[in-house]
Parts: sequence; C-alpha cells; structure tokens
Amino acid sequence: MSQRETWATRTGFILAAVGSAVGLGNIWRFPFQTSANGGAAFLVVYLAAVLLIGIPVILAEFAIGRRANVDAVKAFRNLDKPNWRFVGAIGILASFWTLSYYSVVGGWVTRYIAGSVTGNALAAPESYFGAVSAGVPAVITHAIFIAVTIGIVAFGIERGIELATKFMVPSIVVLLVILAGFAATLPGAGEGYAFFLSPDFGVVAENWQSILPAAFGQALFSLSLGFSVMITYASYLGSDDSLYADGLAIAITNTFVGVLAGLVVMPLLFAQGVPPGEGGAGAVFIAIPTALAELPGGGLVGQVIGVVFFAVVFIAALSSAISLLEAVVAYAVDTFGIARAPAAVGLGIAGFLLGIPSALDTAWLDWFDGLGVTLFLPLAVLAVVVFVGWIMGGEAVDELRRGSSLGVGPAWLWSLRTFVLVVVLVVVALNFNDLFLTPETGYYIVPAPLQ
Ligand code: PFF
Repeated sequence: MSQRETWATRTGFILAAVGSAVGLGNIWRFPFQTSANGGAAFLVVYLAAVLLIGIPVILAEFAIGRRANVDAVKAFRNLDKPNWRFVGAIGILASFWTLSYYSVVGGWVTRYIAGSVTGNALAAPESYFGAVSAGVPAVITHAIFIAVTIGIVAFGIERGIELATKFMVPSIVVLLVILAGFAATLPGAGEGYAFFLSPDFGVVAENWQSILPAAFGQALFSLSLGFSVMITYASYLGSDDSLYADGLAIAITNTFVGVLAGLVVMPLLFAQGVPPGEGGAGAVFIAIPTALAELPGGGLVGQVIGVVFFAVVFIAALSSAISLLEAVVAYAVDTFGIARAPAAVGLGIAGFLLGIPSALDTAWLDWFDGLGVTLFLPLAVLAVVVFVGWIMGGEAVDELRRGSSLGVGPAWLWSLRTFVLVVVLVVVALNFNDLFLTPETGYYIVPAPLQ
C-alpha cells in the first residue's frame, strides 16, 4: 500500500484547519445569529461556548484523529473500539449533508462577486437576491462552486488543500482588516459597535432557552466540530507537535475573524439604517448590498467594496467546503481504497445532487441548515465527548502529551466527562424540544415546503 499523505508543515495544518473553521459561519451566519439573538449578549455567550466547550472538543477530535491516523470511521477500528464507528459516521454524514447546501450559498457568493462588478447586485438588492438565490441560476452557481471544491480536494492534502489554504487564510484576514478600517469611517458606525459590543444581560436572562443553544450551535459549527473534519485533518499529522497550541491557535484565529466580520457588517448595516437580523439567512445578501449602494461616491465605491467583501466570503466559504468534502473523501479513500480523484469527483457530484432542493427553494436550504446544526451536529459532538471522555480516557490524555509537556491533560479529560458532557446534553435537550415538541410553530422536522 502506498504511504498515507501528511501535511508538509505544521503551519500548513493550522492554516487548513483555520480555513475550515473560518467560513460562511463567521461572515454570513454569525452576524445574523448575533443580531437575531440580542446582539452583544449573544456574543458573550458565544465566546464562553468557544472557551468552555469548543476548545475541549477540538482537542478531543484532534486526539482521535492523530492517534488513529486514518479516516474518521476506520479511526475507531484503529483505536480498538470498532463498535464506536458510528461516532465518525454521524460526523461524515453531517459533513456531506452540510456540503450540499453550503455549496448553494457558496454559489450565491460567486454570483455576488460578478453582480458587484456589474453593479446589478447593488441596484435592486431585494429582487437581485430573489433572482439569483433560487431556481436554475442558483443550481448553476452551486455547480460551479462545488466543481472548484472538487478540483482542490482531488489534488490531495499537500498539493491541494495545504497549498490553497496557505494563500486563502492570510488573504481573508488582510481583506477583512481593510474592510473593517473602512467601515469604521462610516457615520453611524458607533451605533453598530454599541449593538455588537455592549451586552445587555437582561436579554440573555429572559431568552436563555433560545440563546444558549443558538450560541453553542454557532460556536461548534464555526469551529467545524462534530463533522469529523477535525478528526480527519488531525489524521494527516505526521509529527508530534503540541495539539494544545494548535487547537488554541485555531480557536483564537477563528473567533478573531468572526468578531472582525461583525466589525465590518454591523457598522455597514447601522450606517445605512438597515435593521440587522431581519430576513434570516438572506439578510446579509440583501442588507449588505443595500448598505453598499448608499455609500457616497456614486455607486462606484460601493461596487469596489462589494467585490472585496464578496471575494473574502468566497475564499472563506471555499476553504470550508474543501474540508467538508475532504472528510467524506478520506472515508472513501481509507476505508474502501478508492483513488482520491475519482472519490472527490463522485462524492462531489453526489453532494451537488443533494443540494439541488436547497438551490431550487431557500425554504429547503433553511431546513437543511437547521437540521444539520440542531440535530446532527449536537449529536455528533455528544458522541465524541462520551467516547473521548469515558471510553478512550487515558489514551486520549497520552495522545495530547505527545509533543507537549503541559500537564493539563487529566483536567481536560475530567472537564469532558462532567461539565462539557452536561452542557452538551442540555443543548441537545433544548434542540430536541425545538425540533420535535413545539407544535405551535410546526414541527421543525417536517420541512416547510412539505407542510
Ligand atoms: N466552520 C465553517 C463555517 O463557520 O463556515 C463551516 C463548517 C465547515 C462546519 C466544516 C463544519 C465543517 F466540518
């Protein structure tokens, strides 16, 4: 058998993992989740979730991946716990599921770059969104986006993913810093910052049943946890570096980019009096162009900023889509011995087909997103926490010790066994209540288009 691939450098691994984490979740989902859930108060709960749950869980996925050195399903066989293969399987399923609609949104973004160049996206934002977000145009851009994703994954770890993300991640940060600098000069920016950065804890106290799961779901989604992606990426680690340092670097960079995106989006919206949080998933695509169109400079300034903004979103979305496809491709390659390129093409096309309903009707997209984030993701995270905490146990601590002299392993393990487990259980329970037990609002599990 030929030797399994590895990352060429440690930085390459970190950037690829950051590329996975930083995506539509930070720039598209995070701002509208924040504004729909009380602004700064949500931000505080989100930050707590990253720190208390996100970091322990990212280390748990890393420990599984590096220890097992193989795709996320076979990993459990390599760890001598073949009955636990379902843990990796839920994650891979979640990746495949998410890729299908993520690529649809990636397609919209692709279209918005072109629409900013021509100015059409800014001229009549609402009808433009209506025209490009559903139906045949959306299917076409969905196909283009997934084709680019397939192309990169087919090239493999070092020559595909590592090379691409090495350029993508720094460009995202640089471009966002430039945009945030620009946004700061807008009149009304102060109001945006206030909404985003000064928390009103009364809001959390009143609405904790919805804010808690929303913030935790956002934190886990944003760190790409529960999708077998971090297990897969860590499985390509050849050398013994500190997983603590890598996990921390990834979580910090991801949070930094999320906050940075908020510092771009909130002032833009407030400066133009566009109410944030309205319209859910479409908000950023309608509200941002509306705000851009009203910038001084006869539309041209808005177009230039629009191109840069959507280019950032595109790069971020692509580096995440790559990781979603990679988790599934690694499974086909490692478990079934299929060659990488045909696996990437075949599974990419399957993901494209699964995404067609989302491309035809945004109500399907909302349903796919909701089910992925409120059902698959928390269940997969719960399974990872139970497995690493209670089944893998000391072996996981040993794995973290490789490449690090930090003695916090046992404390980490106990946090997984107790605190993290309880919090994840609460989130799962709240989500289940939302999914299955709230008939006034309709059972979420039944897709809106079928109701
Ligand atoms: N973390 C990505 C984002 O915030 O956009 C989305 C994502 C990518 C989730 C990969 C899960 C994943 F495995």
